[in-house]
Amino acid sequence: MTNKSGALSTQKIRNMKADGEKIVVLTVYDYPSARIADVAGVDVLLVGDSFGCVVQGRATTLGVKLEETIYHTEMVARAASRAIVIADVPFPYCQLGPTEAVRACARILKETVATGVKIEGGKSRADTIRAVVEAGIPVMGHVGLTPQSVNAFGGYCVQREFDRLIEDAKAVESAGAFAVVLECVQGDLAAEVTKNVSIPTIGIGSGAGCDGQVLVFHDIFNYADQEPDKTPKHARVYRDLHKIIDEGVREYVSDVKSGAFPSEAETFHAKKAGK
Ligand code: KIV
Repeated sequence: MTNKSGALSTQKIRNMKADGEKIVVLTVYDYPSARIADVAGVDVLLVGDSFGCVVQGRATTLGVKLEETIYHTEMVARAASRAIVIADVPFPYCQLGPTEAVRACARILKETVATGVKIEGGKSRADTIRAVVEAGIPVMGHVGLTPQSVNAFGGYCVQREFDRLIEDAKAVESAGAFAVVLECVQGDLAAEVTKNVSIPTIGIGSGAGCDGQVLVFHDIFNYADQEPDKTPKHARVYRDLHKIIDEGVREYVSDVKSGAFPSEAETFHAKKAGK
């Protein structure tokens, strides 16, 4: 819920499923990108713990600290005027059980002005989600491929076990989540899960049958230390920031080395008399 006029709330996000309006979610980790996304019409700004990989350069999200999540979420929440802001709870607060999870989620809400949190895991995390919701904190669930369990999965692999997926999604729904992310789920199975739960499903790598989509900012702008052909199969590159920034930095280096920068116009001079 929010007190800003025209702003979204978790209830409005839930209603979008019934209204057949697709929900747009984008990960953002700082003020300027969050501002642009908010003004452009993104519905949910997700401070994913993916920042551990795309911003911090880690191989997995497991090393992300709670303080770092709070640091990024605070910047994002300051930028949001229409979108809701959801913070990913980093490993292992929710894995430690309801008490640790409520403590961590309460800290996130108290020290940022986020709307709610995202918790990875299905049936095995239902008690924890219920406790956080009962503490008055909106929860977005996350089932299918859950990157905090990458070592248990043995890699980032597509999820194709329908019985487990539907059981997990329904457990998250019964525990009180207002929406659920389906990550890397075979498209037809994700569509089937979507039909069988009342809360919106937000797909990433899970096809067009979901109620909404989430993508990682650095993937859709090729803003990572990688070539475009390394972009994940599920992501579309909308603009190539890697190329733009690379060209700009090279030009700057060349201009400084050659003396072309700074010019007279970019230099402060003594004030003229009488001015
Ligand atoms: O951390 C993240 O960015 C996420 C999304 C990809 C759903 O969990």
